[in-house]
Amino acid sequence: MSSEISENLILKYAKVPRKVAVFGEVYSTNDTIKDLDVDCVVAKSQTGGRGTNNRKFFSPKGGVYLSFKLINPKISADKLHLVTPYFAVITAKAIEKLAGIKPQIKWVNDIYLNGKKVAGILTESKIYGDKVDRIIVGIGINVKRQNFPDFILNKPTSIEGETGVQIDENRLIAELLNGINDISSIENEDFIGYYKDRFYLINKKIKITLSGVLYEGIVKGVDKNLSLILDIGGETKTFICHDQLEMI
Ligand code: BTN
Repeated sequence: MSSEISENLILKYAKVPRKVAVFGEVYSTNDTIKDLDVDCVVAKSQTGGRGTNNRKFFSPKGGVYLSFKLINPKISADKLHLVTPYFAVITAKAIEKLAGIKPQIKWVNDIYLNGKKVAGILTESKIYGDKVDRIIVGIGINVKRQNFPDFILNKPTSIEGETGVQIDENRLIAELLNGINDISSIENEDFIGYYKDRFYLINKKIKITLSGVLYEGIVKGVDKNLSLILDIGGETKTFICHDQLEMI
């Protein structure tokens, strides 16, 4: 089921008409969308895909790479940290709906299938004072089966590689796009139950680095702000972000 990605087919499945621009290859959809008057940019590959913490995001053909632009969103600055987890939930639900598998969410922005990363989310925002001016949400999903090179840490996977399902990419994109319709969930936090339900790291032993300091412990869960709760030899420490996180 592999029809070419196109604006028309995406909009056929979108609940609300949006301005969508589809490209073959771009440097990074998060950059392309900044200069365009559109809600969503989609690319079939990226030459400079970015991940969190200045990492590269390997973006060959066979994946779906897209960015949304939310201008003056109804999201308060003190809820901004919930935007990435919200779109992680949207992405997990879209994969679940189309591929019939239950993805898990690794804190804070990675989607996992059978213990391997299948998708990641990068949110970039501009705030003036306490006003959120603009949010760009970038989502990269490995869709088609492929051999990922060894230089990628923690070998990723693809939806097709894990499930054998050849999903309709236009529907997948539309499902993600429909996520914009419900961003009020970020304010009222009603997506958090699903996030906690699918939380991948629960009870896992991890190493986490923050500001150059390494911590090791057992993950106990996330709190109401979705900060990570770590048990370090009987003491609890909470993390709102990290430089690096590794399972051991
Ligand atoms: C991560 O795994 O650390 C986040 C990856 C985010 C990748 C997406 S692909 C579309 C958008 N454009 C980018 O350059 N990055 C995001």
